[in-house]
Amino acid sequence: MQANFIIWRTLWQKSQSRKLLTGLKRQLKGGGGQPLNDSAFWYLSDEGVDGLFELEQSEDYKKTFITDITKDMLAIAEYIAVKYAGKSNIIFTDWGCGNGQISRVVTQDLIRRGFGVTYMPVDISEKELQIASAEHKSENIKPVLCLFENLKDIFPLSVPKDTVVVHGFLGGTVGNFKKQKINDIIKSVKEEVIVHMPIVEIKNERDRCGVIKGYENKGTEKFILGPFKVCGFRDEDFVLNENGLRYKVRFENGMIKTSVTLAKNIEFEDVMLNKGTVYDITESRKFNFNQFREFIAPSCGSDVKMISKTGAIAICPAGINYKLQIINDK
Ligand SMILES: C[S@@+](CC[C@H](N)C(=O)[O-])C[C@H]1O[C@@H](n2cnc3c(N)ncnc32)[C@H](O)[C@@H]1O
Repeated sequence: MQANFIIWRTLWQKSQSRKLLTGLKRQLKGGGGQPLNDSAFWYLSDEGVDGLFELEQSEDYKKTFITDITKDMLAIAEYIAVKYAGKSNIIFTDWGCGNGQISRVVTQDLIRRGFGVTYMPVDISEKELQIASAEHKSENIKPVLCLFENLKDIFPLSVPKDTVVVHGFLGGTVGNFKKQKINDIIKSVKEEVIVHMPIVEIKNERDRCGVIKGYENKGTEKFILGPFKVCGFRDEDFVLNENGLRYKVRFENGMIKTSVTLAKNIEFEDVMLNKGTVYDITESRKFNFNQFREFIAPSCGSDVKMISKTGAIAICPAGINYKLQIINDK
C-alpha cells in the first residue's frame, strides 16, 4: 500500500511538474506582459522554496510582516476548540503549509486541549511537505501533495465518527492568488474554511519603503530566479539593479510586484527573447482590514474579524459546495 502510494505520488509529481513547466516556458516565449506567478511552478523549484524561507528570515521582512502570528494561531485554536467542543477528533488541513511552523501552534494547542488531531498539510511543493511533516513529527500526519485547484477531486475524505475536518489557509497564502480564483477554490471545499491574514497598515511613506525593503534580499532573488534556472537561464541573463539584486520591487495598489529584465538577447528553445524584455513575477497582496474583507467576501461573506491587533480571520461556512470554475490548465 505504502509502495503504491509512493509510485503514484512520484508519477503524479512528474506529470504535474511537466505540465507546469510547459506552461511556464510557453509564457516565457510569449514575452513579458502577464505576471508569471500565475504558474505554481514557482513553488516547485527547490531553490525557489529555499529562497522563500530565507526571505521570511530576513530582518527587514520580519520587521514589516511578522506580526502577532503566535497570538493569531492561538486565537484560531481557541475558535476551533469552542466551536467543536462536542467532538473528540479534529483533522486540521493546512493549505499551503510552507514550513508548517505557524500551523504547529494551532495543532499543538488543540492537542493540549485534549483533542485527537490529525495534521493534513496540502502543498504543491514536496520539499515544503517534507519540512512541515518534520515540524509536526510528534503528530498524526497525512500529507497531501496536490495543487489546490485539484483538491476537490480528492475530498470528501471518509471522516470517522466524532471527527470534524477544519481547513485553514494560514499566513498570507490567499494574497498570492487572483481574487476570483482563490474564492472559487475556497468555495469548492465542503467543510468550514478558516482564512487567516496578517493585516498590514501603511500609514506613510516610511511604511511604504519598509514594505519594499522587506522584499529586497537574496532570498527573494533566489525565489524569483529559481524557475528560470530550471529552464536553463543564468544569473547574468538578468539586469543587475542599483540595489545589487537581479530583480525590481514595486508596491502598487496594495500589491508587492516584482519583475526581472533580460540583460541580453537569449535564444530559448526555438524562440529569440530580446534584451530588455521585462517579466512580471510576483503579485502578493498586503491587506488592511477593509481590503481583506472585500477580497474574501465572495466566499466568506461578511464574517471577517480581527483576532489580534494585526491579524484577521474570515470564515467560509461548511456546505457551500460550489463548482470550481477556474482550473489551472498550465
Ligand atoms: C506564502 S507560502 C505560505 C506558507 C505558510 N502558510 C506560512 O504562512 O508560513 C504559500 C504556500 O502555498 C503553496 N502553494 C502556492 N500555490 C499553490 C497551489 N496552487 N497549490 C498548492 N500549493 C500552493 C506554496 O508551495 C507555499 O508553501
